[in-house]
Amino acid sequence: MQKREELYSGKAKSIFKTDDPDRFIMEFRDDTSAFDGVKKAQLSRKGMVNNKFNAFVMEKLKDAGVPVHFEKLISDNESLVKNLKMIPVECVVRNVAAGSLCKRLGIKEGTVLTPSTFELFLKNDELHDPMINEYHALAFGWATQDQLDQMRSLTFQVNDVLKTLFANAGMTLVDYKLEFGLFEGQVVLGDEFSPDGCRIWDAKTGEKMDKDRFRQDLGNVIEYYEEVGKRLGVTF
Ligand code: TMP
Ligand code: ASP
Repeated sequence: MQKREELYSGKAKSIFKTDDPDRFIMEFRDDTSAFDGVKKAQLSRKGMVNNKFNAFVMEKLKDAGVPVHFEKLISDNESLVKNLKMIPVECVVRNVAAGSLCKRLGIKEGTVLTPSTFELFLKNDELHDPMINEYHALAFGWATQDQLDQMRSLTFQVNDVLKTLFANAGMTLVDYKLEFGLFEGQVVLGDEFSPDGCRIWDAKTGEKMDKDRFRQDLGNVIEYYEEVGKRLGVTF
């Protein structure tokens, strides 16, 4: 697989073309950001840690029958992925209240949510990823009803797999964000799953082990990402 020119550079990853029009190389950089790109830093080893973490989780999801864009690791900080046409809607599941849900509704952090909730956000940093509902997605042509139905059901399927995976390793999967795209007309999980896009708490102590360590200046960000990975069985 030949790496060709860079197609797109996001806040933490870059996408490169390859000699196969249906395959891209996704490079995980050491850059990190929060609050829609307002707070930025470079964290040594982050690209490698998130690349290997994402590969491990995507393999688990693939084994469980979730269609994923991830194909294989090709270096410490690069993976080969399918070329998806991305749907600009982010899907968030919450098992426990934290973050914007607490701010928006005045709910106490740590409240267990029954059932787990499902929310949609528009992927748009300038607008600070505003919350939307299905009618907005339909009215503005961001997704069809069939795509929204599939995104919701795949997002909950991911929850069944990952909640158990984290629980068995002594951690609580509090919430997470997924992005989907289309490949040959099928809705496929894209982007990444890493501690950058979810909240993970130690099941016993409640200690934060995810990007809130960066957002809230709690320190040792990558050390915690690596600890989460090691508990799950990722080899770095
Ligand atoms: P929130 O509490 O800020 O709404 O975020 C919920 C979860 O989704 C949290 O784990 C962070 C993740 N998330 C992102 O990583 N990027 C985003 O743009 C959004 C909206 C959420
Ligand atoms: N939206 C993500 C966050 O707040 C990423 C970012 O804003 O840079 O963590």
